[in-house]
Amino acid sequence: MSKIDWSKQHCGVHQAPLEKFLALMPDLRPALESFPRNENPHDFTWDVKVHMLMPRQYPCIPGWHVDNVPRQADGRQMFDKVRLDLPMYMWISGGPLTQFRTGYIQPEKWVRFTQADEHRGQQASEFTWRGFIRATHKDIMPPKKENWLRRHCQVYVDEVDYQW
Ligand SMILES: [Fe+2]
Repeated sequence: MSKIDWSKQHCGVHQAPLEKFLALMPDLRPALESFPRNENPHDFTWDVKVHMLMPRQYPCIPGWHVDNVPRQADGRQMFDKVRLDLPMYMWISGGPLTQFRTGYIQPEKWVRFTQADEHRGQQASEFTWRGFIRATHKDIMPPKKENWLRRHCQVYVDEVDYQW
């Protein structure tokens, strides 16, 4: 079982270098212990999102999509600029678990993917905390120079009857 208490974390980090990621979220070190041994964590840009979810909320984009494809100023994705030779990895603490075209990922397991691998978020089935970590090779997306602390996290919803 995880040693991470997600309810004690802040919203996460946004495009942080490894040392800033770990300085801002030291409780997440246990997740790094299983990061693939053939990779150097310093070669990656780190994103973390922490969610407190209610049933039927999606913590990430519900439609099929790909991550980190460079965009033009008007938002159009530039698929000729992808680096399919370079890796990204995602790690999710528990449900709802992201679905790839090849199947669902497993909790607390690093999954290698590329800018061409379509995936989509799933609805929460219960009240739960969920941590998402993504490592993106620096040559796909370099870390930001500052402002790594993530101050907001959104959820995605269908039009259904919510109550509290
Ligand atoms: Fe995604």
